Amino acid sequence: MSDGKATARAFPNIALIKYWGNRDHTLRLPASSSLSMNMDGLHTTTTVAFDTSQSDDAVVLDGVEQSGAAKDRVVRLIDRVRSMAGIDARAQVESRNNFPAGAGLASSASGFAALAVASAAAAGLHLDEASLSRLARLGSGSAARSVPGGYVEWQAGVDDASSFAFSIAPPEHWDLRDAIAIVDATHKSVGSTQGHALADTSPLHAARVATIPDRLRRVKEALLARDFVTMAPLVEADALAMHAVMMTSEPPLLYWQPATMTIMHAVRTWREEGMPVCFTIDAGANVHCLCEARVADEVRQRLMRIDGVQEVLLVGPGGAAHVIT
Ligand code: DP6
Repeated sequence: MSDGKATARAFPNIALIKYWGNRDHTLRLPASSSLSMNMDGLHTTTTVAFDTSQSDDAVVLDGVEQSGAAKDRVVRLIDRVRSMAGIDARAQVESRNNFPAGAGLASSASGFAALAVASAAAAGLHLDEASLSRLARLGSGSAARSVPGGYVEWQAGVDDASSFAFSIAPPEHWDLRDAIAIVDATHKSVGSTQGHALADTSPLHAARVATIPDRLRRVKEALLARDFVTMAPLVEADALAMHAVMMTSEPPLLYWQPATMTIMHAVRTWREEGMPVCFTIDAGANVHCLCEARVADEVRQRLMRIDGVQEVLLVGPGGAAHVIT
């Protein structure tokens, strides 16, 4: 690693209490704290090599050389690492996802978490987990939560130093599953970064932000007690509240497709029948169905039978971002 090259791997995460809206867009200081589970099985692997003979940074994602805004976003994080390490060598960045970029799943969380860990190691920096989480946050807010392992809280904080994520329970704490119903595999029309900037235009945003500390505390308590019955409606309520903010911003963002709605109704019916399952939805149409492991296969089969569901991915709790070589 002191030879200026390192490879790291990180997992995406699914939020139980969502991050939507910033108090500072440049530093990605969020409007409120959030809570998530890392997803095992899906991952990004990133190699960073600092090379004094290179005249420019090069960024290759899934085999495609990046330019413009996508490259700038990566270079900004590398610039921070260079200034922390006191080096000025250009970097070669190569990153691969083991899940298809077109699956409609966010790769920015695992991508920027892997980039933060790999670039810090390649630069010879020995950063603690909180510092790596802060670094990842600069690239993508949710990436701050993919640095620690298992079940993770991202405390909003008030400045760069105090806004980072930490683990509240390891992956082994609770064997939850996320059955991800893919109903739309295309790239979202309005990405999260643009969406966060619109949150303030919704009259509902401040109201949601005001409810989060109490809701987050209750979800955290239920999670630590492995109390699915208490946790499920709170997780759904926060996803719905976030989508209400999206739908009432200017311009409004409507991510749902008809199948999204069908799944939400089905999940609620299944839960009324006694099945430990609940839904949450990111900035897209796909539905994440969180459930206890013992019912995961049944949930997957039921989802597959719903019109408009193209595929169901099943993942469990994942570990921390880490250096592999
Ligand atoms: C709806 O972290 O993708 O998935 O910081 O602009 O990269 P950027 O945004 P991002 O936002 C995630 C939004 C969300 C909710 C969540 O994951 O908490």
